[in-house]
Amino acid sequence: MFYQRKWWKEAIGYQIYLKSFKDSNNDGIGDLNGIREKLPYLKELGITLIWITPFYLSPMDDNGYDISDFYQVDPAFGSLDDIKNLLKEAHDIGIRVIVDFVMNHTSDEHHWFVEARKSKSNKYRDYYLWAKGKIVDGKEVEPTNWASFFGGSCWEKDELTDEYYMKIFSKKMPDLNYRNPEVRKEMQEVAKYWLDLGVDGFRIDAVAHLGRSEELIDSNLKTDNKYQPDWRKFSNLPVLFDYLKEFKENVFDHYEIVTIGEVGGDASPKEAIAYAGYKNGPLKMVFNFDHCWSNNVWQLEKSSETVKVDLLNLKQVFDKWQRKQYQKAWAPLYWLNHDHPRLMSHYGNPQKRFLSGSMLATALYFMWGTPFVYQGEEIGTTNYPFKDIREFNDVGVKNSYENSLFKSLEEEKKFIFQTALKSRDNARTIMSWNASKYGGFSQSEPWFHLHPDYRSVNVAAQLDDPDSLLTYYKKVFELRKSEPYLSTFVYGSYQQLLKRNPHLYIYLREKEKKILVITNFFDQERVVNLPRFKVKKILLSNYSDTRTILANVLLRPYESIVYEVEK
Ligand code: GLC
Ligand code: CA
Repeated sequence: MFYQRKWWKEAIGYQIYLKSFKDSNNDGIGDLNGIREKLPYLKELGITLIWITPFYLSPMDDNGYDISDFYQVDPAFGSLDDIKNLLKEAHDIGIRVIVDFVMNHTSDEHHWFVEARKSKSNKYRDYYLWAKGKIVDGKEVEPTNWASFFGGSCWEKDELTDEYYMKIFSKKMPDLNYRNPEVRKEMQEVAKYWLDLGVDGFRIDAVAHLGRSEELIDSNLKTDNKYQPDWRKFSNLPVLFDYLKEFKENVFDHYEIVTIGEVGGDASPKEAIAYAGYKNGPLKMVFNFDHCWSNNVWQLEKSSETVKVDLLNLKQVFDKWQRKQYQKAWAPLYWLNHDHPRLMSHYGNPQKRFLSGSMLATALYFMWGTPFVYQGEEIGTTNYPFKDIREFNDVGVKNSYENSLFKSLEEEKKFIFQTALKSRDNARTIMSWNASKYGGFSQSEPWFHLHPDYRSVNVAAQLDDPDSLLTYYKKVFELRKSEPYLSTFVYGSYQQLLKRNPHLYIYLREKEKKILVITNFFDQERVVNLPRFKVKKILLSNYSDTRTILANVLLRPYESIVYEVEK
């Protein structure tokens, strides 16, 4: 099963954050026709699969993840015809399209919720999760002390019916009740509708949270927070696999599609196999977040301190996931998505954009799995220099800010400094296409910040430059897809070498061919000694004069090499 060839195992994916990618009608908001305009660019980059973030009707509390009608396209993003045209044009040039399927919640402006909150006996009441408040010391409080991912409580009081509804994201995103078979049926219809229209599958948003702890009892975590970030109360619970199996049998199995679940809440490889294992998994693969936190950004307190990568930790995470899932489930390969800071600022070095960026691409995209590039990663976009709380857009940042009880100006400054390093808003800045006003994104002022360096760091500047990061990304994907190496890169085994070396990440891939990938993660020279390997060929390198002998070789800053070695 693992080796069975499938289009989605061999695909090269690219994630598009619709609102910030390309604006075709100059209203400052990225749209579906904007993607259409950029299909030739994606094709040239070697992309064969795109994932588009939500374009459904939405009040935009969370930029489209809060959906008020699953069947309609939001006019800010285009029309149903635009989707149809996009699907057709993408398919014509060999690019498949998956879309976000937001199953966990609706907008509070969805007609189900508008109805549900009218009365306890409303037909749609049971589409959502309701509970009575608790009386503690004579005062009413939320049903439990569980936190929301976006700051504050995961409950919101609804005055009219005097009950609380559950919302693990924002209060404008009430959670659906999957215990109710009606909800499951409705949502299966939604999935069918888009699949029948021709989409090639889904990235399933927040799928880990469809099951909730039946018992509404307080978390016994004891953090300083008023509400406890006890994600296990609503993450990866066994019942959700029953719901997903029903989706698989009734919907997914009837199409030649890919389904990728977003699995936060600390999922283990074992849980990932429960989601996406060949034997019983209801999905094809899952995104986990384990590799996203291997540095010290959570500990930094002021701008004089620098970001340091913890490579040993990162290597352990890769080793764990690559080995434990091998031959059991499929997996995506990605550095970041629209919920993370920019890769170049997180694990790279903006002063050495090409070298560190090409190193990171080499380290990740020659492992087994399906690559997903995040827009702007291929040109080395960095974090935005946020300085003020008003510069942020993310509802999660705003809620957390409001829920923080700062005791001093210093504390508030620290919050802003740390948020700037970690915020999802970094990934959502406008894509820099060229050096013209508004970066070639639009003729009008964009809805969000354009990166201040867009005049030098943009697609046009890198496209024809043989030494640019963008050109290197093209080479990575050309190599990954090329014969006779494809089957080794896609399906070959993975073995890490020099596991305890804190500076170098080195691994072997083996099937028809034997491939050795060597990356130096830092800005210093390092010696590597692997004389037992005999180099047949250098397949790719980010220096032009790479050595072919592996005994006591000096690796230069960020040097990265893909060798074919003798078997
Ligand atoms: C997922 C999305 C994120 C969104 C949340 C709620 O985590 O990736 O952007 O805010 O779900 O839909
Ligand atoms: Ca637009």
